Amino acid sequence: MSSSQQMDEMKVKRGIVIKDDWPGYNLDLFTYPEHYHDDIENVYIPHGVIMDRIERLARYVTEDFEDSKIMVLCVLKGGYKFCADLVEFIKVLGRSSNRYLETRVEFIRLKSYLNDQSTEDLHIIGSSDLSFLHGKSVLVVEAIVDTGKTMKALLKHVETFEPKMVKVAGLLVKRLPTMTESLTDYVGFEIPNRFVVGYALDYNEYFRDLNHICVISKTGKMKYKI
Ligand code: HPA
Ligand code: MG
Repeated sequence: MSSSQQMDEMKVKRGIVIKDDWPGYNLDLFTYPEHYHDDIENVYIPHGVIMDRIERLARYVTEDFEDSKIMVLCVLKGGYKFCADLVEFIKVLGRSSNRYLETRVEFIRLKSYLNDQSTEDLHIIGSSDLSFLHGKSVLVVEAIVDTGKTMKALLKHVETFEPKMVKVAGLLVKRLPTMTESLTDYVGFEIPNRFVVGYALDYNEYFRDLNHICVISKTGKMKYKI
């Protein structure tokens, strides 16, 4: 492989890279729920762009997995929209090609955030028995990977059930100085270290009903603080 091909591959792996100085789009250019008017600064990633990127991720997944069946492990709650849309695109691709990837979706619920701060401990809420992953090709679907602590802990837990292979899809990956090895195989967008909400990502359970990914405002942070 030539060095320029390697560069291209690295860029593809990072996904769509959003620069530190990206101001987002003015709110007036889009529609969004009126009740969030003062609570968001801008539209950081519009819903349509999210969908277009997920369609492409679906193609990477379909091309990569050798098994004809995959077990999709959706990380709740933040991952529910990403997972539903990704699986939908995988199905559409299957119908329009002769490469049909059978998907089964299972859910795991994790919680590690209070306000906009990561807490140290990983809580698996509900059943932590993932024995249905044994011997399977697994795609872990997570909305956002930031410190990587949660993902690392989850992957360690998943490995104990001896799946055949495990890949990770992350819609958003935060660019952090501490970022070392990438845990994410399919990245939607690499974003600066800012707190974002919408498209099922929350701030204390608010904003999941916003379809764009947005940056929360100071007012919003104060209003929904616990
Ligand atoms: N937004 C919402 N939830 C999160 C984030 C974020 O930026 N980072 C980690 N969990
Ligand atoms: Mg959350």
